Amino acid sequence: MKVDVLLGLQWGDEGKGKAVDVLTPRYDVVARFQGGPNAGHTLEFEGQKYVLRSVPSGIFQGNKINIIGNGVVLDPALFKTEVETLEASGHDLKQKLHISKKAHLILPTHRLLDNAYETIKGDAKVGTTGKGIGPTYTDKISRNGVRVGDVFHDFNRKYARAKANHERILKSLNYSYDLTEFEKEWFEGIEYLKQFKLTDTEHEINSLIHAGNNILCEGAQGTMLDIDFGSYPFVTSSNTVCAGACTGLGIAPNRIGEVYGIFKAYCTRVGAGPFPTELLDETGDAICAKGNEFGSVTGRKRRCGWIDLVALKYSVMINGVTNLVMTKSDVLDELEVIKVCVAYNVNGKEIDYFPYDINARIEPVYVELPGWQASMTKMQSEDEFPAEFSAYLFFLEEQLGVPITIVSVGPDREQTIERYTGEEE
Ligand code: GDP
Ligand code: IMO
Ligand code: MG
Repeated sequence: MKVDVLLGLQWGDEGKGKAVDVLTPRYDVVARFQGGPNAGHTLEFEGQKYVLRSVPSGIFQGNKINIIGNGVVLDPALFKTEVETLEASGHDLKQKLHISKKAHLILPTHRLLDNAYETIKGDAKVGTTGKGIGPTYTDKISRNGVRVGDVFHDFNRKYARAKANHERILKSLNYSYDLTEFEKEWFEGIEYLKQFKLTDTEHEINSLIHAGNNILCEGAQGTMLDIDFGSYPFVTSSNTVCAGACTGLGIAPNRIGEVYGIFKAYCTRVGAGPFPTELLDETGDAICAKGNEFGSVTGRKRRCGWIDLVALKYSVMINGVTNLVMTKSDVLDELEVIKVCVAYNVNGKEIDYFPYDINARIEPVYVELPGWQASMTKMQSEDEFPAEFSAYLFFLEEQLGVPITIVSVGPDREQTIERYTGEEE
């Protein structure tokens, strides 16, 4: 019996969807614990590509139970579209997808509020995904939210009350809108949702643990977007860190076993906010082009930069990472030199810890390592790794103090190389 967690260590889009899909055969249950349709988790196998937003990434590997936990925020209209698309491609989800009654619903007016708040922030806008995430979590915390379980209890009154609150705010902001189409799709989504198993998933998940099942908790976004520990205020509105798996699913902290921390061999960020190692030059453009760094939800160009070990060490610490997963190393295949940020220079002072204010002027301090300049996409085992790549892995492991147990060398499920396999129990 074990509960493991897989989560992002950077600013999201590290390849969580692919990694969860690869690990799912070892588990009986896959559960999302936070976030909502701001996530876009991409999986590729057998020549097909899927982008998941609210549905956990364990749905393609056999008949595993997939849970959308209480920590998630759900937009019924987007959920309906997502599931219908998956069902059209031959994947039946109704029996294996279970949804927490305690998950909060994203209302049509939450999306409007998200956009209205961004507009009034002007230059200081966060660059949200526009999915209503912030306003929905705000209502949850201020005890004004509407939950999935409410669809069976006095729902219309609860909806109308929340909507009226939102409309008052929108009016005060002079925000003009037309809800008709939005609301129609949303109510169709509510009816659609009723066909799913809506349960107290905290009971279900604990019963499954007691019965000896293995659970994999899937994070969304990344540690640098965490509401408490990320680059505030340029963050999302949930706890993306490991502790979020406990509150977002009802799993006791002492149940958590392995923590898989996933990161790219470089770094990306989508939306506004500080990014110390950002590359605003041809190298950045080359990484963006080769890595196809465009948002899977919004299509926005992702900002690209060198790997940042100051931020990664912080993420490893906050999450108690036991295994590292490195993705997209193939994107760096052609580079002659690879830079690794090992410290920050802040106002002339060198620091190696993640500071309170990363919005301040930070000059990254780099170590340069030789590139491997060989294509890695077809490699099957670490015996084939070029010496320079092995040296890169070794350097990162030494700095981070955690083994890199999985290396991803391409988007496909098969392009995955495991290390230290002989040393597992
Ligand atoms: P997630 O949000 O963490 O699940 O990541 P996304 O799916 O948003 O972004 C990761 C992108 O990189 C997707 O398009 C994946 O198909 C792709 N990807 C994942 N691993 C690799 C890899 O090792 N190499 C390459 N080239 N692409 C990868
Ligand atoms: P996955 O799970 C990358 C970013 C947005 C914005 C900030 C707040 O695919 O890694 P929000 O809509 O959450 O209020 O936006 O967070 N963001 C993500 N960036 N990957 C994601 O998810 C993200 N989800 C939100 O761009 O900067
Ligand atoms: Mg993504």
